Amino acid sequence: MLAGKRVVLGVCGSIASYKAADAASKLTQAGALVDVILTASAQRFVSPLAFRALTRRPVYTGMYDPAATTAEEHVELARAADALLIAPASATTIARLAFGLADDMLALTALATTAPLLLAPAMDAQMWEHPATRSNVATLRGRGAIVVGPDEGRLASGRTGAGRLVDTATLLGALRQALGSAGDLAGRRIVVSAGGTQEPLDPVRYIGNRSSGKMGFAIAEAARDRGAAVTLVSGRVALPTPSGVERVDVATTAEMAAAIRAATAACDALIMAAAPADFRPPAAASQKIKRAGEGLTLSLVPTEDIIAGLRGSFVKVGFAAETQDLRENARGKIARKGLDLIVANDVGADGAGFGTETNLVTLIDASGACEELPLQSKYDVGMRVLDRVVALLGVRRA
Ligand SMILES: Cc1cc2nc3c(=O)[nH]c(=O)nc-3n(C[C@H](O)[C@H](O)[C@H](O)COP(=O)(O)O)c2cc1C
Repeated sequence: MLAGKRVVLGVCGSIASYKAADAASKLTQAGALVDVILTASAQRFVSPLAFRALTRRPVYTGMYDPAATTAEEHVELARAADALLIAPASATTIARLAFGLADDMLALTALATTAPLLLAPAMDAQMWEHPATRSNVATLRGRGAIVVGPDEGRLASGRTGAGRLVDTATLLGALRQALGSAGDLAGRRIVVSAGGTQEPLDPVRYIGNRSSGKMGFAIAEAARDRGAAVTLVSGRVALPTPSGVERVDVATTAEMAAAIRAATAACDALIMAAAPADFRPPAAASQKIKRAGEGLTLSLVPTEDIIAGLRGSFVKVGFAAETQDLRENARGKIARKGLDLIVANDVGADGAGFGTETNLVTLIDASGACEELPLQSKYDVGMRVLDRVVALLGVRRA
């Protein structure tokens, strides 16, 4: 998604300026061509050398550069940019942009570009809350700028409040969302489920499974990167919410079913990458079950079959995590649950299944036709699943 993209990274003068070096590094690692502009104030906090080394490209420190090769170079960056990301964005630069000034290289580039503008503010909470900043931010939002953060937390001043620069993953997520906003899922609503459910036994114990949620989260990111509005219904997992994705947290299968029913009331496709429990205790004990001399026999009842109970004309994609007879079991599931596509994964295979960064899957459609995909990252698996969703949506629209 970022490979080959021209990203201009504007850095303002802030205690958080050093964090922009991490963003420059991660963007470069993702294949983007990163042109860094440091404001005069930023150069008091960080050096051009660090950014030149990280991006392996020239760094812009002023618009009157005597080394400029063309007279038009001062606006060349603005023309070439696929996106302009300002992180950290200071109160001063935000004000400069709101007024449409072009009195330094960063403001000039912002004024001269038609590329998406992303601002990640960082400043003291009182500066952020000030009516002047509020009004400037509202003006920029009104012109289409995407404002990422700021986060709340401990600030450099020692106070706590809103004003922290968002983390690098959030910056990159927002950038990918902006770059993909006109993708082939633009205007579509996609619901993705992820993670395992927890069925309580007593106030401290539950029956769960080993699903990490990584596959569903990767699909949610991939759908966002193709322009979809994404709702992610997630079991309890240890993963950060992908930037720009609406997340609904649930614990039990019944909660997941209710959240998915609500989210799919208006959606184009549902991708069920979650691993909801098939069985649950009939009721949770109200007190912790004590150890006694003898063992404990549990009786379990089936949980609600989430996908089979859903009505609606949206595209339905299920997952089948199997340890044996992968294709036969997956084909049976398609027919039983009225699915359009099933993603069958052998959770016993190397590099596939729960907790891994990669997955090895076979896509099986309603006709029973199989497409075996090679071992690849869960994000790339998500992209291939979405290729099929796009095709299925196209057929429905026609
Ligand atoms: C130690 C220090 C930290 C600063 N941190 C911030 C900050 O986080 N956010 C901000 O808006 N201004 C901060 N400032 C003030 C800016 O550097 C100053 O407003 C400057 O004019 C910003 O210019 P620029 O937007 O061109 O980089 C800080 C100043 C100092 C001395």
